[in-house]
Amino acid sequence: MRNRIGILVGGGDCPGLNAVIRAVVKASALRGWEVLGFRGGFEGLLSPVCYDVLDYRQMGALLYRGGTILGTSNKGRFSAKIGHGEVRTVPSEIVLEARQTLCDLGCTALVVLGGDGTLTIAHQLWQAGIPIVGIPKTIDNDLHGTYITFGFDSAVACATDALDRLTTTGESHDRVMALEVMGRYAGWIAMSAGIAGGADVILIPEIPFTFESICAKVRAREAENKKFTIIIVAEGAREEGGDYVSSHGLEADREARLGGIASVVAHEIERRTGKETRACVLGHLQRGGAPTPVDRQLCTRFGVVAVEMIAEGLFGHMAAFRPPEIVPIPLTEVIGGIRQVPVDGEMIRTTRALGISLGDERVGPPVSAAA
Ligand code: F6P
Repeated sequence: MRNRIGILVGGGDCPGLNAVIRAVVKASALRGWEVLGFRGGFEGLLSPVCYDVLDYRQMGALLYRGGTILGTSNKGRFSAKIGHGEVRTVPSEIVLEARQTLCDLGCTALVVLGGDGTLTIAHQLWQAGIPIVGIPKTIDNDLHGTYITFGFDSAVACATDALDRLTTTGESHDRVMALEVMGRYAGWIAMSAGIAGGADVILIPEIPFTFESICAKVRAREAENKKFTIIIVAEGAREEGGDYVSSHGLEADREARLGGIASVVAHEIERRTGKETRACVLGHLQRGGAPTPVDRQLCTRFGVVAVEMIAEGLFGHMAAFRPPEIVPIPLTEVIGGIRQVPVDGEMIRTTRALGISLGDERVGPPVSAAA
């Protein structure tokens, strides 16, 4: 009988998912394997089971198509991460039903494309005997064990473009412009786009900020006759001693939804400095659309290595990018907390060396008072 494998996507979508699916299907077809694509995330494994047989001849346009042809979900009966990163055990009857589905369909492996939450579920399924291979997906780039996750480069390109646009309008109106990007607990998008887009202030979850520090930067620029200031803020950035900003309550079967910090920052800057300030939330624009060339080639390589791992019977592992190679690493190295920007690392040092404010610089007394 022909070898059959399953594939599904979990969590939020991101650019490059279809490119991975294409690579898995093409590499499998060349080995004579059949691929079943489960719909709507892990839920597709539960009754009524929902899947399509993926034909390699229909994969042509998928390399550059955003979203996922299989659909996905970041909530529901499988959720293993809830609230602010609390880990939950997936109910055993759900796990057993998923295992039975794969058994009934004759699937000898399941490829799971996901971030921290999805791979935590995948690890639990692996422990229950399901032959899992993971692929690191998330615009947040916050997974341990891999230098980069796919989707991140595309999100940074989008956020950098947004900063470029905010700079021209901010400069024209002598305004402070605050751009909010995704990143609940890790500031990789804000840091990378902030550096690439020449931001004056970068606020990330790893470094609590003070309004004194941000406003000091705005005033210092004003004193140098630079009448506009560009700020990029991760959705999970917090004021020193403050809490996450969110306009949604916690939901039982999903991780917390954050958002609104850019408005808070903009309002406070305007109040304290008198500078006209605007907030812009990039939101799901950074998750939609075509993947960048970097993501396309990364996705293709991840997909092919995942198929190699199945051929070698290497389950409970994830394909990771350890430059210059894509290599298998155990899922246990990936789960159990997210990877943050190291606060004493080179990236932060570089940022400070350029005079970019991270919102935590101590502000001395005004010059006249100090004299
Ligand atoms: O984890 C990916 C992510 O894009 C986070 O950066 C963000 O907080 C969250 O998903 C948004 O989820 P939703 O699509 O449910 O709004």
